[in-house]
Amino acid sequence: MAVNNYQKVWHNGKFIPWADATVHVASHVVSYASCLFEGIRCYETRQGPAIFRLKEHTDRLVNSCKIYRMELPYTREQLSQAMVDLVRVNNVKHCYIRPVAFRGYGEVGVNPLKNPIEIYLLAWEWGKYLGDEALRQGVDVCISSWQRIAPNTLPAMAKASANYMNAQLIKMEALTNGYVEGISLDSAGHVSEGSGENLFLIREGKVITPPLSASVLPGITRDSVMTLAQEMGYTVIEKEVSREMLYIADEVFFTGTAAEITPIRSVDRIIVGKGQPGPITQKLQERFLAIVQGLEEDKYGWLTLCAQPVTAGR
Ligand SMILES: Cc1ncc(COP(=O)(O)O)c(C=O)c1O
Repeated sequence: MAVNNYQKVWHNGKFIPWADATVHVASHVVSYASCLFEGIRCYETRQGPAIFRLKEHTDRLVNSCKIYRMELPYTREQLSQAMVDLVRVNNVKHCYIRPVAFRGYGEVGVNPLKNPIEIYLLAWEWGKYLGDEALRQGVDVCISSWQRIAPNTLPAMAKASANYMNAQLIKMEALTNGYVEGISLDSAGHVSEGSGENLFLIREGKVITPPLSASVLPGITRDSVMTLAQEMGYTVIEKEVSREMLYIADEVFFTGTAAEITPIRSVDRIIVGKGQPGPITQKLQERFLAIVQGLEEDKYGWLTLCAQPVTAGR
């Protein structure tokens, strides 16, 4: 994480120095993981920094909080505007934005309702999540021995910190065994997602992804890829995916804010397709990267240009 002492953090409506963005260890969030968050990319474009799908990320944050009965004292518009201001204040060309909303210092005990809600918005410069080569060459992944959180345990639709204890187990096991990432199965044994990415496969020209009922996070990149694939004339299907479908797929790839569109070249050391990024993955990746970098028309209104006044809701 590239930060410097001059960097500013937005806290409950005010900009504070990076070094002052701290919490007390007795805060509710420390013991009970009562935190909802987001991960958003702001891309460098010829028209200045542009935040990708700000509205959808803000909506997901507010929805995550709603699931956990956390009412934020700011509107979606105020939060979106604050993120644009954050990019401007920090004068960055591109960055990763991390909003966190959590239960702070007050009562100690499981009941979170009396603890104050703290909101911080952070931004820092960030490169490619799975490595620079990953986007071009593809990555080697495994099926995790850890299952994804089951329905009605922790809600998978909320981007909650607690979910990432499960994600950490998946990630650490994968790295320990020499893989870049792990894919979890859901409680029924169907493919769910990576520790921080949604998953797609291509078979006989069709673009297939597990449904939200497979305990996946409703990924915003996932949604963008489904839109682009449809636009390009492919049939897009949300359906249950069995583990072995990954082995015999023509192409497999991850999507996510961090991973963008990362091809997968092997699963459990079984080569996927030709062991290199497939043609449909490449086409989707090219179109996606061209849009986010402002090189192609933003026909879906996905970019919020930070150098310009913000339009309502974005
Ligand atoms: C568990 C998990 N699944 C999927 C994704 C991809 O979601 P998005 O495309 O909105 O970043 C993420 C990243 O936020 C994630 O953490």
